[in-house]
Amino acid sequence: MNLYSHETYGEHVAGVYDEWYTDVNPHAIDALADLSGGGKVLELGIGTGRIALPLSAKNVEVRGIDAADSMIARLRAKPGADRITVTKGNFAEVPVEGKFALIFIAFNTFFALTSQEEQVECFRNVAAHLVPGGCFAMEAFVPDLGRFTGGQVNWATKVTVDEVQLDVGQHDAANQHVTSQKVVITEGKVQLYPVQIRYCWPSELDLMAQLAGLRLRERWSNWKREPFTSESMQHISVYE
Ligand SMILES: C[S@@+](CC[C@H](N)C(=O)[O-])C[C@H]1O[C@@H](n2cnc3c(N)ncnc32)[C@H](O)[C@@H]1O
Repeated sequence: MNLYSHETYGEHVAGVYDEWYTDVNPHAIDALADLSGGGKVLELGIGTGRIALPLSAKNVEVRGIDAADSMIARLRAKPGADRITVTKGNFAEVPVEGKFALIFIAFNTFFALTSQEEQVECFRNVAAHLVPGGCFAMEAFVPDLGRFTGGQVNWATKVTVDEVQLDVGQHDAANQHVTSQKVVITEGKVQLYPVQIRYCWPSELDLMAQLAGLRLRERWSNWKREPFTSESMQHISVYE
């Protein structure tokens, strides 16, 4: 039985998210502020505001969408959150009024939409919410099938005297789908953090953009805006 839904990841991870992901790349904030050109910005999967808060602190008007109440509550408790409007919902639907100079989705969050149909729907809804000349920026990894042996991934990411962390997953290559769990084991306790994704190569994303009437404007290998190459392990793609 697979009871995974849009809020599952966020509801499980909210309590530890800010401990696990403390860093925000200042180049990301600069690049996003530049892409906004001073206009309104919408972040899909805003989470606890890791990116949205520093962006908003640069006087950028930021809105966000997230499916998980617990992530939204963490964001709302932070200084500066009063400047950010957050809508609870599925970002594939882009359930907000108005149009934006920049819509962005960071940290592989687009792959949280676990079917191609929903990913295409997301592109279409994003396109409908862009002002003329606006753009959609996405940060995502380039899939590496070498991670999977016999359809499995199984890594120890932390091993100390009192704690073990494992990443385990099953890969369905035909559907580009990975069902995984981060498992944190401490004395007398096991905690599960489920993650399910449908990954895509940049070429498929470009095709989804085309279906939505968008085209690739730029593709960088990192937030310093360095060129994307065949060796790049991640990309920042900007569609217009
Ligand atoms: C990896 S976190 C990224 C949070 C933030 N953007 C950052 O970079 O730190 C992914 C976020 O997307 C949210 N999310 C996942 N699927 C979603 C969906 N279909 N609709 C809305 N939010 C979703 C999760 O609740 C979570 O807060």
